Amino acid sequence: MLRRTRTTKKLAKRIDLQYFARPHPFRTWRFWLSVTVPVIALGWFITQRAQGGQKIYSSGQLSRVHAVFTEQCMLCHVTETGAFTAHVTDQACLTCHDAPQHHASQTFTPDCATCHVEHKGAMLLQATVDTACTQCHGQLRTRDGQPHYVTSITGFDNKHPEFAPLRSGKADPGGVRLNHYVHLQPNLMGPNNTRVQMTCDDCHRAAGTGAWPYGTAKVNPVTATEASVGRTKYQAYLPVPEFAKHCASCHTLQFDKRFGNEQVPHDKPEIVRVFLVKRFGEYIAAHPAAVHEVNLPERQIPERPRVPRVARNASEWVQFRVDDAEWLLYAKTCKQCHTLTPTSTSLPEVAKSNLTARWLAHAEFDHHAHRIMSCTTCHTRTPDSRETTDVLLPGIKTCQQCHRTQGPAKEAAEGRCFECHQYHDWTKAKPTKGGLTIQQLRGE
Ligand code: HEC
Ligand code: HEC
Ligand code: HEC
Ligand code: HEC
Ligand code: HEC
Ligand code: HEC
Ligand code: HEC
Ligand code: HEC
Ligand code: HEC
Ligand code: HEC
Repeated sequence: MLRRTRTTKKLAKRIDLQYFARPHPFRTWRFWLSVTVPVIALGWFITQRAQGGQKIYSSGQLSRVHAVFTEQCMLCHVTETGAFTAHVTDQACLTCHDAPQHHASQTFTPDCATCHVEHKGAMLLQATVDTACTQCHGQLRTRDGQPHYVTSITGFDNKHPEFAPLRSGKADPGGVRLNHYVHLQPNLMGPNNTRVQMTCDDCHRAAGTGAWPYGTAKVNPVTATEASVGRTKYQAYLPVPEFAKHCASCHTLQFDKRFGNEQVPHDKPEIVRVFLVKRFGEYIAAHPAAVHEVNLPERQIPERPRVPRVARNASEWVQFRVDDAEWLLYAKTCKQCHTLTPTSTSLPEVAKSNLTARWLAHAEFDHHAHRIMSCTTCHTRTPDSRETTDVLLPGIKTCQQCHRTQGPAKEAAEGRCFECHQYHDWTKAKPTKGGLTIQQLRGE
């Protein structure tokens, strides 16, 4: 048997050297595809161009707020020479809206486009990724090298510090005494000897909560606007309590039984004195015989020797009565709520009330967004608080039960930095000078 020998020469002979000249289904396809695809593409391009203008060059749909500018790429993509550039300068954004710097002490300024991502469709432009912040806050540096804040924050549930007012050693700086425990007791003595159960919004009232339940219109005027607001007004922060609106109907400021329920104005001691001198002066003018009455200081005046004082004339009578009234007010009435310090004059000084309206100055909070929750589920310590100095705000653990980025993040409320913080220092914002026409914004 002849052995088959496989040499390269023999093998070469088997190959048909004219193969490319003969038709083959694959090659036919390749030819037609290479002709038709560009033709179709060009056709699509021309029709799109005719119908849809510039958006065919775009790398993706614009965000919801900017979608209206889709025909005018140059509003963002413009160089100084007026040519198209894929890079967008901060200046282009700033012609339409100011966005002030974050902090003067920051060591560099990221471009707008690194945080506000475009061409990704109708997403919320403000929903910036955490890395936009942690690129600095993960290892915070400042120009002067002395950061004032915690320097290594990598996520709300990752090394984010406890809120400043809740760190150890911090106290409520408020200067008005208030015992929450006492006021939240059932059967508290209310106005006109009625028993009441106060609730948080009796003293912490968002605008439009309705008429105050305790007291008369005299000490607690319900303004027309308050009564006519049908829907609870949007209120992120609650206003601080005021004496006239929230205390006066139970804590009255009577000064002398001759005047029944009449009260001194809730004001500085100097003004209270002017009032007292005037009222006693009027009284003695109307009742001249009263000068010779022997007035025993009232039993309710604390720590005062009960020596009868006989006035020699009307002006001395007024002076004695003003003295008595002031003793009552400053040893008892006003002192219940205020710290009073003696001064070089005969009148004490009332400590500043100093009630804080906004506690977390470096973050945003919104009671309205949380209105489905009970007050004490966050302010847990309030019902047992007996001292003004107690800080009653919830700490970070309370928030982290809902606001998270780790763990089952999909079952959480938004936990990224932008939910609670501002980046831009909006206090420095300048108004935008609008000058563009509809035509310039929309294209043909
Ligand atoms: C509201 C402003 C805005 C408008 C209008 C806009 N773009 Fe952009 N575009 C951007 C931003 C921001 C970037 C990211 C640029 C950067 O990284 O510097 C970008 C990037 C691009 C890129 C580069 C590829 C990429 O994804 O980074 C292309 C191409 C582009 N845009 C095309 C267009 C076209 C075409 C239009 C008009 C249909 C348009 N853009 C309209 C803001 C805009
Ligand atoms: C042609 C004008 C124009 C240009 C250019 C422009 N914007 Fe806007 N931008 C608007 C208008 C209009 C709104 C919606 C009204 C508003 O919030 O002021 C808006 C809103 C925004 C918002 C708020 C979005 C939200 O979800 O509430 C952000 C963030 C923003 N722009 C960032 C940018 C950035 C970054 C650039 C540059 C890449 C840019 N804009 C360029 C006109 C412009
Ligand atoms: C370019 C660096 C840089 C970036 C990016 C940055 N920060 Fe800051 N941030 C700083 C500096 C610097 C300070 C001031 C530090 C100081 O004075 O000690 C600061 C301070 C703060 C403070 C505390 C003071 C204040 O203003 O309330 C908060 C909160 C804050 N940044 C949040 C953010 C958030 C949220 C982001 C992302 C959207 C962000 N930062 C992005 C550099 C940066
Ligand atoms: C759920 C709300 C929330 C989220 C999300 C959040 N923070 Fe905060 N952050 C706060 C509150 C509240 C404070 C306390 C502010 C104060 O004490 O005035 C605070 C304080 C800060 C401070 C000041 C710290 C200091 O030393 O006093 C910085 C800086 C800060 N946050 C950065 C960030 C960064 C960066 C992110 C994202 C990684 C982030 N925060 C996410 C609520 C939040
Ligand atoms: C009798 C009126 C009154 C009632 C009722 C009342 N508060 Fe207050 N609350 C005040 C006054 C006055 C202050 C300011 C003095 C102070 O800081 O303690 C205050 C302060 C606060 C503060 C901020 C001060 C801090 O230290 O954190 C919180 C939070 C608060 N109250 C929550 C509540 C909650 C929650 C309830 C209901 C469970 C409630 N309050 C019921 C009068 C009241
Ligand atoms: C509904 C009636 C009512 C209102 C409104 C009210 N209080 Fe009182 N308050 C009382 C009563 C009753 C007591 C006495 C409780 C006791 O000693 O058992 C009291 C006691 C006090 C005390 C002494 C507490 C202590 O430590 O023994 C202070 C201080 C005080 N109130 C402040 C205020 C302030 C400030 C407001 C307004 C923000 C206010 N109260 C609103 C009824 C009220
Ligand atoms: C039941 C508690 C209570 C009594 C009693 C009371 N006040 Fe006040 N006072 C308040 C509250 C609450 C504030 C802060 C809110 C406001 O101004 O209404 C305040 C504020 C003041 C202020 C302003 C302090 C500042 O911040 O500069 C003066 C002054 C003052 N009171 C004087 C008096 C005088 C004088 C008396 C007695 C005649 C008196 N108060 C009785 C609760 C009381
Ligand atoms: C989700 C938790 C949460 C709930 C629910 C909540 N608060 Fe607050 N509250 C806060 C935080 C956080 C602050 C600090 C905000 C600031 O001043 O920066 C605050 C602050 C306050 C203050 C001080 C003044 C202010 O607005 O900053 C009062 C008063 C107060 N809350 C009362 C209430 C009352 C009344 C309710 C129920 C109607 C309530 N809170 C429900 C978290 C909560
Ligand atoms: C029971 C869950 C829950 C708790 C606890 C909670 N939040 Fe929220 N928070 C929400 C929900 C739900 C929203 C609205 C939807 C969203 O933005 O994800 C919201 C919204 C917010 C917003 C945005 C408000 C706006 O402008 O719309 C801030 C800021 C915020 N929370 C801060 C806090 C802080 C600070 C705490 C802790 C004191 C806290 N939250 C505790 C559920 C919670
Ligand atoms: C480090 C990330 C970051 C950079 C860089 C940045 N922004 Fe923002 N921007 C934010 C965040 C977070 C918000 C939402 C919170 C706030 O209002 O500060 C925001 C909000 C805005 C808003 C919305 C204001 C509104 O209506 O509520 C505009 C407009 C805006 N930025 C424009 C710009 C422009 C223009 C630049 C460049 C000059 C820029 N941003 C740079 C993170 C950034």
